[in-house]
Amino acid sequence: MPSGEVILEARDLVKHYPIKTGVIRRTTGHVRAVDGVSFDLHRGETLGVVGESGCGKSTLGRMLMRLEEPTGGSLRFGDVDVYSQSGAAMRRLRRDIQIVFQDPYTSLDPRKTVGDIVVEPFQIHPDFLPRNKWRARVRELLDLVGLNPEHINRYPHQFSGGQRQRIGIARGIALNPKVLICDEPVSALDVSVQAQVVNLLESLQDELGLAYVFIAHDLSVVRHISDRVAVMYLGKIVEIGDDQQIYERPTHPYTQALQSAVPVPDPAVRGQREQIVLQGDVPSPANPPKGCRFHTRCWKAQAICATTEPPLAVASDGAGEHAVACHFPEVRAAIAP
Ligand SMILES: Nc1ncnc2c1ncn2[C@@H]1O[C@H](COP(=O)(O)OP(=O)(O)O)[C@@H](O)[C@H]1O
Ligand SMILES: [Mg+2]
Repeated sequence: MPSGEVILEARDLVKHYPIKTGVIRRTTGHVRAVDGVSFDLHRGETLGVVGESGCGKSTLGRMLMRLEEPTGGSLRFGDVDVYSQSGAAMRRLRRDIQIVFQDPYTSLDPRKTVGDIVVEPFQIHPDFLPRNKWRARVRELLDLVGLNPEHINRYPHQFSGGQRQRIGIARGIALNPKVLICDEPVSALDVSVQAQVVNLLESLQDELGLAYVFIAHDLSVVRHISDRVAVMYLGKIVEIGDDQQIYERPTHPYTQALQSAVPVPDPAVRGQREQIVLQGDVPSPANPPKGCRFHTRCWKAQAICATTEPPLAVASDGAGEHAVACHFPEVRAAIAP
């Protein structure tokens, strides 16, 4: 829970991608992929980040490890201002924040053996471990993520999807990072395998004291693993709070819609629950609606919602840290799945 110290502090993060058109590639607009995102990540905690495809989750994840240069905003890792570092200091920082990508089929080089893939972080950061220890450490890492160290010379295609994601995780934790960004790490996997990979991430967190930013496109996946959840819509956080708040007392209409779509295994409970079906598509992040970005799809929208953007305000129910960006916040007690 967010009792530990703040390890990552994101403030007003913005990433706009230029849209270039015509033969001279003139910039005719911007995709506002991330448009003012702030949050704290505490040591050892898991922050779930949830929202529909295209809302800026992966861009945010890449910004947190500075794989993207920001259009605006600041990021602190402990006492360090991440975006003002360069050279050796930035390289040192990269050890501490690592990423596991969504698709284990495309994120692993098919021409490299598992050993070559997992040893890469040591090659990139040669000060981390003496060269003569690399191979033994790779075998240890494979064992730690539940793979057979004897398979060190196999190629990615010789593994299942779940096993490939374990290879990606082994690479992600090789340098003992403090923060691991998990960008939809189980979305490409069969449902039966998803839980195994989530369980692995949880046990690694306990063992290694990692903090996770765990990205997913629906709430059901992050439910089990998150201490807190941030809900994103069109480049912004619309609600952030602890997992109970988000699942049992969602306050933003968008969160309520996502929550109502979480599958309910118990048919008796399922019958009592009303699913909120959102009308229309997600608007383009190149031209987001004025006022509240969600107002075009919101069943509670009033005149003010089309003109005035609601700030992400701390909600006043006193139940822990919780903030919601809505002019008409109202808890919708949800029947827990
Ligand atoms: N490198 C890029 N250049 C231009 N537009 C991009 C780039 N990366 C992402 N986008 C756009 O930014 C928006 C957010 O994308 P992304 O962060 O991948 O969302 P998500 O991970 O939530 O699906 C999308 O509209 C996407 O098309
Ligand atoms: Mg993504």
